[in-house]
Amino acid sequence: MSLIGVCAGKGAPGCTFVSINLAMALADNQSRVLLLDLDPDGGDLSAYLGLDPRKGMHLLPQTPGACLESLNREGEPRENVLCVGGFPRSADSNPELIEGILASTRGAGQSAVADLGRVRSDTAALFHSPDLILIVARPRLVSVHGARRAIQDLQDAGVASSRIYAVITGWERQSPADLAESAAALPVRTLGAIPLDRRAAHWLESSQRVPVKGPAHKAFQALASEVARTLAAHPADKRRGSRILR
Ligand SMILES: Nc1ncnc2c1ncn2[C@@H]1O[C@H](COP(=O)(O)OP(=O)(O)O)[C@@H](O)[C@H]1O
Ligand SMILES: [Mg+2]
Repeated sequence: MSLIGVCAGKGAPGCTFVSINLAMALADNQSRVLLLDLDPDGGDLSAYLGLDPRKGMHLLPQTPGACLESLNREGEPRENVLCVGGFPRSADSNPELIEGILASTRGAGQSAVADLGRVRSDTAALFHSPDLILIVARPRLVSVHGARRAIQDLQDAGVASSRIYAVITGWERQSPADLAESAAALPVRTLGAIPLDRRAAHWLESSQRVPVKGPAHKAFQALASEVARTLAAHPADKRRGSRILR
């Protein structure tokens, strides 16, 4: 099954927003999806989804082999998505641990979406694990610039450009040129464009159980189809595995 890494360059464009909504949209078509908060600066998944703070990634064993069982134990279901919250402190995370958790999802028999947060040059090697990498950006100059730098960091770390795609979130219908210009300024294909949807954002921030079925919901369903199509076009044997653990 596939591993999808969601990340960003500068700012807080909506990695967690995209991770949660994409996981839910993928789960509409699949039996179950694993959603992991692996953002060392984040832990936002627990806050957004009102997960039990006593459970989560921070309780996972440091040995990769034991991870899968623990992920199941530390996760909480939301709809058809098993959500595993983040690290309580970034000091507890390290690239090897994150890499081990990503590797363990391979045995899960279900697709996984990992919120990996901001790409930094020192963590870019982590991004060898996902089959597909989605860089989230806002349709704004600064955000697109940050995404471009993040893509450069990934490419410098040897991550195949063919697995990197963009998702633009928060575009406004009254200014479609912003979306077109942002997509054109990015050196990778834009796989999805999520319109600004304040109700969907409110849903996330108020930890309500039932997702809002507005414009963002529709766009996420389209993104989930594109993700599935793109993954099908990348045969598993051509995907790159972990560099750190091998
Ligand atoms: N398409 C959108 N419509 C409305 N709000 C959005 C959209 N995309 C992202 N947001 C909002 O942007 C803010 C930051 O998103 P978040 O996922 O926490 O960012 P990150 O994980 O990148 O730090 C949140 O309030 C989120 O709801
Ligand atoms: Mg986040």
